[in-house]
Amino acid sequence: MRLHDRVFLLLGGTGGIGKALLDALVQVGSHVIVASRHPELVGHRENMSPVHLDLAAADLDQQLVRLTEAYPDIDGVIHCAGQNRFSGLAKMSVGELDAQLAVNLRSAMLVARHFAPQFEKAGGALVFVGSTFGSIGFPGYTAYCATKFGLRGFTEALRRELADTAVQVVYVAPRATATEMNPEVVNELNRALGNSVDAPETVASEILKAMENGDRRRFLGWPEKLFVVINGILPRLVDKAMLKKLPVIQRFLNGGRLL
Ligand SMILES: NC(=O)c1ccc[n+]([C@@H]2O[C@H](COP(=O)([O-])OP(=O)(O)OC[C@H]3O[C@@H](n4cnc5c(N)ncnc54)[C@H](OP(=O)(O)O)[C@@H]3O)[C@@H](O)[C@H]2O)c1
Repeated sequence: MRLHDRVFLLLGGTGGIGKALLDALVQVGSHVIVASRHPELVGHRENMSPVHLDLAAADLDQQLVRLTEAYPDIDGVIHCAGQNRFSGLAKMSVGELDAQLAVNLRSAMLVARHFAPQFEKAGGALVFVGSTFGSIGFPGYTAYCATKFGLRGFTEALRRELADTAVQVVYVAPRATATEMNPEVVNELNRALGNSVDAPETVASEILKAMENGDRRRFLGWPEKLFVVINGILPRLVDKAMLKKLPVIQRFLNGGRLL
């Protein structure tokens, strides 16, 4: 899809990757509607309109109806919102589990359900930001992995369902990225495990490339891309590698303290 002179609804445009996307989109001449729970904090700039949207709200479908009444000419939606928490499953509250399911997965379904019919006729892009953890289960991220595995499955089925229409469905899976999503304990874990961390601008640029190229899916980072393939065909190899890392991961799950 061409980016210049298009109108995009950006979900998560106040986050680390989202802000980088917003800057890049405005720079190439798109108009961006930035959805947030706190639109008053988004500020003002040319070619950008802040709107209120709570992706965890029970009435999200109705909020989307009102949004498209106000902005009927949207050409594409980029779902770059998300929530996660690095924690053992037993220590996660029901509220945190529900919020991750609602924001990372349910909202993606409702957004696609709302926009796909209008894009089928006029053409349009539905872009979803997943994660390497949407293909590799990782200790401390059980709920997050479940939502991102779900998102990957959802986008694959949706793309196949809409394959004979003008809707472009894109799934982009970043690896660890330097944003506020990751608290210091996770940054320390990544350093201890030798994991690479990308800049949000790099990830934003890859998302836009995927859109422009008409990619179906794009996995970011080497060797993460290879691990995704290996986990798909030989998960026991990854089980073994992960078992070796488990004591380190458990130490950080325990707040970085030695057990
Ligand atoms: N950072 C990483 O290491 C990493 C790695 C792989 C994939 N990802 C994925 O990349 C995407 C962006 O992540 P990020 O690192 O940029 O996150 P971030 O900096 O923590 O920003 C999160 C964004 O999600 C929005 N959001 C959260 N709950 C919401 C809700 N209920 N309603 C509306 N918006 C909500 C926030 O908007 P408001 O607070 O303004 O409402 C904010 O814009 C996510 O899907 C994430 O899972 C991140």
